[in-house]
Amino acid sequence: GEGIVEVFLKYWPIFLRGLGGTLEYAFIAVFFGSILGTLIAMAHLSKNKVLSAIAAVYVNVLRGTPLLVQMYISYYFLPMAFPALNNIDKVYFVLLALTLNSSAYVSEIFRSGIMSVDKGQTEAARSLGMTSGHCMRYIILPQAIKNILPALGNEYISMIKETSLAGSFMLYELMYTQTLLANKYLIWQPLFIIAGIYLLVTLSLSWVVRKMEKRLSVSD
Ligand code: ARG
Repeated sequence: GEGIVEVFLKYWPIFLRGLGGTLEYAFIAVFFGSILGTLIAMAHLSKNKVLSAIAAVYVNVLRGTPLLVQMYISYYFLPMAFPALNNIDKVYFVLLALTLNSSAYVSEIFRSGIMSVDKGQTEAARSLGMTSGHCMRYIILPQAIKNILPALGNEYISMIKETSLAGSFMLYELMYTQTLLANKYLIWQPLFIIAGIYLLVTLSLSWVVRKMEKRLSVSD
């Protein structure tokens, strides 16, 4: 039989391509999830009660149901309910679920980042005649960003692990290499190689996030 090292040396390009897919899909999810999540957070924080309630429901539904279920709904139900969507590459349905899921988590990151800034500062700025837009831009956001950026880094790390679910839908990411190599009757070696690669990537990225956190906090 072949050991883990032999399998890795023989098939490393397959794993490398899988890792590429993982990093890319996770990036897409967090990037578009951040844009959408910021809008959701703004809606959630707004004084408009209806808007705020809709945002709260959105966040609760997406965080309160498993990502895998969301992927199934997106992948199987959407094209069924809207036949016009059948021309679209199925990859996008999986990416949609990843993005929407991430947007809900990002929206809470953004919201708690903003709420972490002392309310008295807003009141002081407003009483000095600052508009709420200026106050947000010059007082709140520069401080909130110290909490938000590291948390977004952690969200990217989470999504690197969560994209493994996309392998079940045949998206070529790291976990999917298990399926590819199982066809060559390699079952256990790929699993440990995959786990090792995930671990290497998540540990290095958390190290980067911790460095970033330290840097951002010295300016306090
Ligand atoms: N695995 C959990 C789930 O399926 C957590 C998802 C985490 N998502 C995220 N965007 N951080 O619901």
